[in-house]
Amino acid sequence: MQATARANSNIAFIKYWGNRDETLRLPVNPSLSMNLDGVFTRTTVVWVAGLAADNLVLNGSPAGAEALQRVSAHLDVIRRRLSLTQFAQVTSTNNFPMGAGIASSASSFAALTVAAVRAAGHDLSERELSTLARLGSGSASRSVPAGFVEWHAADTHEGSYAESIAPADYWDLVDVIAIVSDAHKDVGSKAGHRTANSSDLQGARVAGAAERLRICRKAILNRDFAPFAAVVEHDSNLMHAVMMTSQPPLFYWRPATLTVMEQVRRWRAEGLRVCYTLDAGPNVHVLTLAADVDAAAERLRNIEGVIDVRIAAAGGGTIIES
Ligand code: DP6
Repeated sequence: MQATARANSNIAFIKYWGNRDETLRLPVNPSLSMNLDGVFTRTTVVWVAGLAADNLVLNGSPAGAEALQRVSAHLDVIRRRLSLTQFAQVTSTNNFPMGAGIASSASSFAALTVAAVRAAGHDLSERELSTLARLGSGSASRSVPAGFVEWHAADTHEGSYAESIAPADYWDLVDVIAIVSDAHKDVGSKAGHRTANSSDLQGARVAGAAERLRICRKAILNRDFAPFAAVVEHDSNLMHAVMMTSQPPLFYWRPATLTVMEQVRRWRAEGLRVCYTLDAGPNVHVLTLAADVDAAAERLRNIEGVIDVRIAAAGGGTIIES
């Protein structure tokens, strides 16, 4: 049996950084994100009788051992949940560069989960699909529901899932992504989550996360850009402060990253509705409103060191294509 699912990536406004349980990927704090329309992974899963092991083709080539191992471990989770014994043939493509601050694990594990479950002929609730996707990659839990999404931090597997707080068309927020590097990052977020607690600042970041999330949720629901911008930049700065003060430290910024952040703050002071947020990579996600997209993109393209600009509006959740 076979199924194909398509999942958008997402950008977190309130970040997930650090787990209270590594194996179950139970996060230390709740997070809030927006799915990115058109920045997606498409994955086909076929459960094949008689196959000796799982097989993964990634962006047209056989996957390396590390990627295959992670996908196979996630398929083990799904096999256990659905009492399956067969191995799977998985074919997956991303339409964006991997490992450079546009979360490929989020869309990959959301698409993999939804395709694998459907290919087995099962129809699970969105909540359960989100909890299952979380076991593959934390941020993948947020790519299952549509639009603006909150992922609950809980101390049980069942309690930690993501759900939509508003549909994609609720607010015309747009992510204008300034690509300053398309190289694969050295230290992935998986290793980063493990070292988060070694920073003296992590405790303070976590302590304020629920309140920042409340402010951010309210700003989204009120479509109020000024408080949204303030809390989103603050939350991103806090996460990067934790990264830089972890042991060993993680520095994801490039010189052009800093230039973009500085310019964004300046443009906002001049009246353009823009703010920035960064994931575990050097690229800068500049959040703006539809009316200001052209101006923001044009200005970003003119910054030396910005090699490309990608534009994504709020997107839907994971869908089954066939
Ligand atoms: C910085 O979900 O990629 O993008 O669970 O190990 O796959 P794993 O980590 P991942 O971490 C995302 C971290 C982040 C912030 C965020 O998206 O909330």
